[in-house]
Amino acid sequence: METWSIVVAAGSGRRFGGPKQVELLDGRRVVERSVAAMAAATVGVVVVTTGDLVADLGALPGVAAAVEGGETRSASVRNGLAALPDSATHVLVHDAARPLVPDAVVAAVVEALADGADGSVPVVPVTDSLRTLEGTPVDRAGLVAVQTPQGFRRSALADAHAAAADATDDATLVSRRGGTVVHVAGDPINLKITDPSDLAVAEALLAHHRRNGARPS
Ligand code: C5P
Repeated sequence: METWSIVVAAGSGRRFGGPKQVELLDGRRVVERSVAAMAAATVGVVVVTTGDLVADLGALPGVAAAVEGGETRSASVRNGLAALPDSATHVLVHDAARPLVPDAVVAAVVEALADGADGSVPVVPVTDSLRTLEGTPVDRAGLVAVQTPQGFRRSALADAHAAAADATDDATLVSRRGGTVVHVAGDPINLKITDPSDLAVAEALLAHHRRNGARPS
């Protein structure tokens, strides 16, 4: 088993109002935190980004290659897949927008792959009550929210992307192809920076966990 990572950082940050991946979080860029977490847990990292950041992020420790992103998240993942070395047997795909991912979450994703799953995803309970847009209440008891990194057997992920399909995450594509995707424990601290206020929440979480002697880096 040779596990690599793809960190996708080519979004335009439309909802954020700019490229959120280069915002500073306690003095360090969001994307650098995400890359460092994945570099610590895998053989090498492929970063998918845009413009000047390709050369910039390509020079970070643990980054083997940096490539241009695509129009959609799925297209960006495909560009990352194309840059993996032949020796990679497994791949973790991580959103640059999740800079606080704990090591234990990454380790749980890798462990499920070692146990033979086609894919493994970290999930957390849904805490809000839910309704459809049409107004039908939905029982949250049967639902979980899905985080990244999502881990895959490389061939399962490549097959899922072969038809150039689009989805908001990779596990959706692998499941559609009949792959077995297992759930592992995610963590609420692994939040996704979407709105500017998320950055303030992330700063507070970082300070809170430091005070309590826990991760993240
Ligand atoms: O847009 P969303 O928040 O779902 O993006 C999740 C991750 O995918 C972000 O880290 C973003 O930079 C990345 N992305 C990408 N290429 C795109 C769109 C999103 O790499 N075309």
